[in-house]
Amino acid sequence: MSAIIVVGAQWGDEGKARVVDWLARDADLVARFNGGDNAGHTVVAEGLTLKLHLVPAGILHPTAVGLIGAGVVVNPTTLIKEMDELVDLGVDVGPARFKISAAAHIILPSHLALDGAREEARGKSAIGTTRRGIGPAYADKAARVNLRAGDMINPEQFADHVADGVRAHNRRLEERYGVSGTVSPEDAAAEYCEYAKRLAPHLVDGTALVGEALEAGKTVLCEGAQGLLLDLDHGSYPYVTSSSVIAGGALTGLGFGPKEVSRVVGVAKAYTTRVGAGPFPTELLDEIGDQLRGTGANPWDEYGTTTGRPRRCGWLDLVILRYAARINGLNELALVKLDILSGLEWLKVAVAYERDGERIAHFPAEFGLEELAKWQPVYEEVSGWTEDIMGVREFDDLPAAAQNYVTLIEKQVGLPITSISVGPEREQMIVR
Ligand code: IMP
Repeated sequence: MSAIIVVGAQWGDEGKARVVDWLARDADLVARFNGGDNAGHTVVAEGLTLKLHLVPAGILHPTAVGLIGAGVVVNPTTLIKEMDELVDLGVDVGPARFKISAAAHIILPSHLALDGAREEARGKSAIGTTRRGIGPAYADKAARVNLRAGDMINPEQFADHVADGVRAHNRRLEERYGVSGTVSPEDAAAEYCEYAKRLAPHLVDGTALVGEALEAGKTVLCEGAQGLLLDLDHGSYPYVTSSSVIAGGALTGLGFGPKEVSRVVGVAKAYTTRVGAGPFPTELLDEIGDQLRGTGANPWDEYGTTTGRPRRCGWLDLVILRYAARINGLNELALVKLDILSGLEWLKVAVAYERDGERIAHFPAEFGLEELAKWQPVYEEVSGWTEDIMGVREFDDLPAAAQNYVTLIEKQVGLPITSISVGPEREQMIVR
């Protein structure tokens, strides 16, 4: 068949795992292509709430094989913990079902220390990273000094390189940030030697696996992490993550060509959220924002899956979704969490930005944050609905105001909305 790419259309946490879980029913291979354990992918299935950070969410379907692609940075500590949790739940993550590209990069404990030290040093202008070592690991990758998963083939040699890497990081921590002794090179080497023995059987040539699957007519589902505005090149820099999160990132992160792509699905929440610092034009700092966030009592409330931080919440921003449609070449949108808007008498949707009487319909990303800050959202106000929609399975059974909300998005963004989630459970989905 072909490659289907699923990407986030906002600032991450859109509910991509929900959509991946749905599409994975028909996939042969489900592959993560970017990021690391900064991602938090929640799937609620059969009464269980699973929070995954590295293993592709699609692996919960027994027929799909999971792959961590070359574009990912892997923290083996997190990965092994996650694999053990999945085994306890009866999910097969043995080498035949779960594979790691030899070209994926490795996160060391000292990458986490560097991430934290850099954030502290930034003070008020901290990015608000997840402190998982993502930025420092990608920086070492670009500097061509990082360890790759394939190095685990020889655990003892790998351990020596781990110790060398930690020593180099410790020097940097001391010289640049005045921090010393956070990570012991010897302890890290011993730990990573054991990780290597455990993970080596999972190593594969990821591009060959993807290529052969496509050649054989199979479906490869490419699972993105984070969302467009956290993209290193096209997001709200510098308040971004350090990887390519867009559809193009699937091609570089997994190693296949554009002609294989049959479908690009952009996942958007029915409102907008953001964790960490940086601009957010439609942010709500009032009780409506609090209502959207929830109290944290439910796993689907707006608190970070990885860090537990409260997410900033705001109205839906169609300027951002148009930007996502263009940059990713989206064919369709999957709309998530429509049920959360139930009970609001009226809703606002940003349809454009304006300043000094000038209106624009596109997201002004390239000239940086100062330029972006000059623009104010232009809202259209629409009716809300009070009905509980969690039991609805057909579009026509939604309240008229909810149907109008969906139709407005489609018209403004110029894309069909092919699925709508109305609750956290797998089945709480309207497929059109
Ligand atoms: P980092 O990826 O940990 O370096 O964090 C950089 C920025 O991306 C911060 O604003 C994080 O909050 C944000 N971020 C990283 N991963 C995710 C995610 O999975 N969901 C939402 N935000 C994320």
